[in-house]
Amino acid sequence: MLAADLGRLREANLYRSRRILGGRQGARPVIDGRRVISFCSNDYLGLAGHPALIAALKRGADLYGVGSGAAHLITGHSTAHHALEEELAAFVRRPRALLFSTGYMANLGVISALAGRGDKVLEDRLNHASLLDGAVLSRATLHRYPHADPGALGSRIGQERARLIATDGLFSMDGDLAPLAELAALAQHHGAWLMVDDAHGLGVIGNCGRGSLEHFGLTAAQVPILVGTLGKAFGTFGAFVAGSEELIETLIQRARSYVYTTAPPPAVAEATRAGLDLAQRETWRRERLRALAQRFRTGAARLGLPLTTSETPIQPLIAGSAKRAVAWSRHLEKRGILVTPIRPPTVPEDSARLRITFSASHEEADVDRLLDALSELPDEDWGA
Ligand SMILES: Cc1ncc(COP(=O)(O)O)c(C=O)c1O
Repeated sequence: MLAADLGRLREANLYRSRRILGGRQGARPVIDGRRVISFCSNDYLGLAGHPALIAALKRGADLYGVGSGAAHLITGHSTAHHALEEELAAFVRRPRALLFSTGYMANLGVISALAGRGDKVLEDRLNHASLLDGAVLSRATLHRYPHADPGALGSRIGQERARLIATDGLFSMDGDLAPLAELAALAQHHGAWLMVDDAHGLGVIGNCGRGSLEHFGLTAAQVPILVGTLGKAFGTFGAFVAGSEELIETLIQRARSYVYTTAPPPAVAEATRAGLDLAQRETWRRERLRALAQRFRTGAARLGLPLTTSETPIQPLIAGSAKRAVAWSRHLEKRGILVTPIRPPTVPEDSARLRITFSASHEEADVDRLLDALSELPDEDWGA
């Protein structure tokens, strides 16, 4: 039965397999023994292999050892974790922040702590899987509204008496921003919480890197629940939830993916503190990202490639069928460029794509090489 299922995935071009990274993450990693230019990591600021983060991790290991040894609520919560929480809270200008081991676990933990049987949770149709799974786990009723459509949400929310509206801030596969001001107004009007998962926005957009909330000028009162991840722009691993004193204390009591798991290694928290510091101080990283995305968009428009409206470092090229996305990816790889194809169920049917992402460690010449390689794809493909 499993073999037949795997066979069907292969036939449908939906079979996924792992590539082996042979050294540090970066713009030019060694993958499967070969050096490539990669446009598919989330290491947006180029910090995953940064010497300052590596040194902080080593110092942290000397100080704290390797394993945290216990859950946060037992003896696993170290000075390093606590300092990082305070620094994250200050960064996003909220009273408190709470570390989670991963973004996936943060989203499961928050939604299942705040909503339960008989409640309604409303989510954007294109939300990250962890937000959708959080609602399923909570046993609340989940309603998915059309992507980035506050009008559709507005016409529904009145009947639903929603407890929670949850959305990506910057959508992970499309690179566009949620209409957060409109969502915040709807949430406030209907007495629901608004939860924004800004995994791809924090560190990347907003002048100070405070993400999509900074971009739209939204306050903590308008967006009471903010989730951020640490394995993307900040270069390490883990996640956090930021909000009021009461929210964080509630999560400490009730979020099962916080309570019933070992705290992450303190040395990783030390490395994240270094990443957070660089992400705030080195504004050139964000500026460079903007410039690279713009260079790509200008070049791609000249070539007639099917760009979307995204202006962020996530630049999807929609292929349509999984088969075509795989063919495009293979073509690029022959030219030493890695962009893994993204296929259903990660994205909706018939919207398989190359999800091109830029990093501050890319050079302009890397973007030009990517455009050259894309220009060799057959023109008829762009009608997809
Ligand atoms: C929007 C969004 N939320 C949450 C996550 C999960 O975060 P983590 O990788 O830390 O589990 C991801 C991707 O990984 C994401 O893209």
